[in-house]
Amino acid sequence: MRIVITGGCGFLGRRVALKLLAEGSPLGRVDELALFDNAPSALPLPEDKRLTLVTGDIADRETIARLITRDTDAVFHLAAIVSGQAEADTDLGYRVNLDGTRAVLDACRALGTAPRLVFASSLAVYGGSLPPEVGDDTALTPQTSYGTQKAIGELLVNDYSRKGFVDGRALRLPTVVVRPGRPNRAASTFASSMIREPLAGQEAVCPVSPDTVMALASPRRIVAGLVHALGIPGEAFGATRSLQVPGFSVSVGEMAAAMRRAGGEAAHARLRWQADPQIQAIVSSWPPVLATPRAEALGFGRDKNIDEVVQAFIEDDLPLQKELAG
Ligand SMILES: NC(=O)c1ccc[n+]([C@@H]2O[C@H](COP(=O)([O-])OP(=O)(O)OC[C@H]3O[C@@H](n4cnc5c(N)ncnc54)[C@H](O)[C@@H]3O)[C@@H](O)[C@H]2O)c1
Repeated sequence: MRIVITGGCGFLGRRVALKLLAEGSPLGRVDELALFDNAPSALPLPEDKRLTLVTGDIADRETIARLITRDTDAVFHLAAIVSGQAEADTDLGYRVNLDGTRAVLDACRALGTAPRLVFASSLAVYGGSLPPEVGDDTALTPQTSYGTQKAIGELLVNDYSRKGFVDGRALRLPTVVVRPGRPNRAASTFASSMIREPLAGQEAVCPVSPDTVMALASPRRIVAGLVHALGIPGEAFGATRSLQVPGFSVSVGEMAAAMRRAGGEAAHARLRWQADPQIQAIVSSWPPVLATPRAEALGFGRDKNIDEVVQAFIEDDLPLQKELAG
């Protein structure tokens, strides 16, 4: 089968690709995997004759129509502008996150085969005055342009699925920690930096208060969840194709403590606390606690705790991270 990953050279896209190449897909053998992005992969990709790299702009409809060819069985739509950047550049955010999603959906629709589509949404679709636990039934009240664009994307995935144009599913991802590499322009980027940089011997700044609680998931868990989502029959989703996937809740102070347990005093001394009211406001608008019975019934798992997540980063990414910090 042929699978397309948009944003395929990004953090999650590349890892989904590596997993599909190594393990196959829940729908069957992977014969061709097309990674679409507007930037090259910062990290190495394997030499594999099934892999093709396609460069272009997600909002360019002709490019996307050429990418999603008739023999495409499934699409992971992960290309996006992250939260901080979508907030700072309104036009870019709407072009990539909304027009790009429409281009992908319409290219799928044009095939007439209703390919499976996994769309990466975010818990940024919630916001404002929230109940103590947030989940599939919570009203979507995003407080950022990024969250608004993801909420519109979810509605489109639902409508196109209802009409039989695609067989879509939209996963609301928690903040994924620890992300390797360099800080990006997501408002949540500090949540990775405050663990990653000190463990790799570099300084980091935490812009929110230690009592800020966040819902997190590890890269291992989210990549497994994205691939798992591909294999679930559309009917199993019921009335909505949107799904809040599990995360675990942890305070930023406890994240710093886990980093200290793993890296010792020397690592902990590399973390500075410097309040940034803008970042605090964005992060505080996200739900701290997730209720995910529907996702759990559909077979999605959750990380045990922050120490397990830090350990996974040390095993999977720290050696390369130290080279980067070099
Ligand atoms: N990582 C997280 O914590 C998290 C949380 C919730 C949701 N998500 C969503 O998951 C998806 C993947 O996230 P990620 O962390 O891998 O982000 P990422 O920034 O690493 O990957 C996104 C990719 O999209 C590409 N892209 C941006 N603009 C493009 C354009 N105009 N044309 C083509 N490609 C373009 C980027 O080059 C990048 O490689 C995104 O949709 C993101 O919104 C991520």
